[in-house]
Amino acid sequence: MTSKEIKIAYQEYDSTAQLNPSDRELAEAAIEATAGSYAPYSKFNVGAAVRLDSGLIIKGSNQENAAYPSGICAERTAMFYASATYPENAITSIAIAAGQDGVLCDIPVSPCGACRQVMAQYQLKGGQHMSILLVGGSRIWKFEKVDDLLPLIFDSI
Ligand code: THU
Repeated sequence: MTSKEIKIAYQEYDSTAQLNPSDRELAEAAIEATAGSYAPYSKFNVGAAVRLDSGLIIKGSNQENAAYPSGICAERTAMFYASATYPENAITSIAIAAGQDGVLCDIPVSPCGACRQVMAQYQLKGGQHMSILLVGGSRIWKFEKVDDLLPLIFDSI
């Protein structure tokens, strides 16, 4: 038997002002995207913004439904729209923010497992790393690639 370890590296920032201009713009777009959230059940407003390799930013937000499983997370709303509308473009980064009652969560919100798997798929489709920015009011975490949030990715059968 051999014991093995997987380490995850990420960067922490104290505010969007510390990010490079491109990441700052994406983080701010994710915060703006929370305004489009339709969350009558959880009242948890999540926003996501993806950047394409063309530079274009696309926003999405969580959309809930009375039949709960029919709703969808902000991340997948943004990624599915991006891939459906710009199928030739890779998604190079995604930023995620969340708030309640119009107040941004201080600590970053981490994407659910289903959204991580979808990120993995679009990273594979795009053929390049997709960085992930988890945007909170008092700190921001940046991961360079989906593998960092989903080690040992399942990507084929
Ligand atoms: N949600 C997201 O949109 N993204 C996440 O990463 C976690 C959860 C949504 C789903 C649901 O509408 C609400 O947040 C509460 O779980």
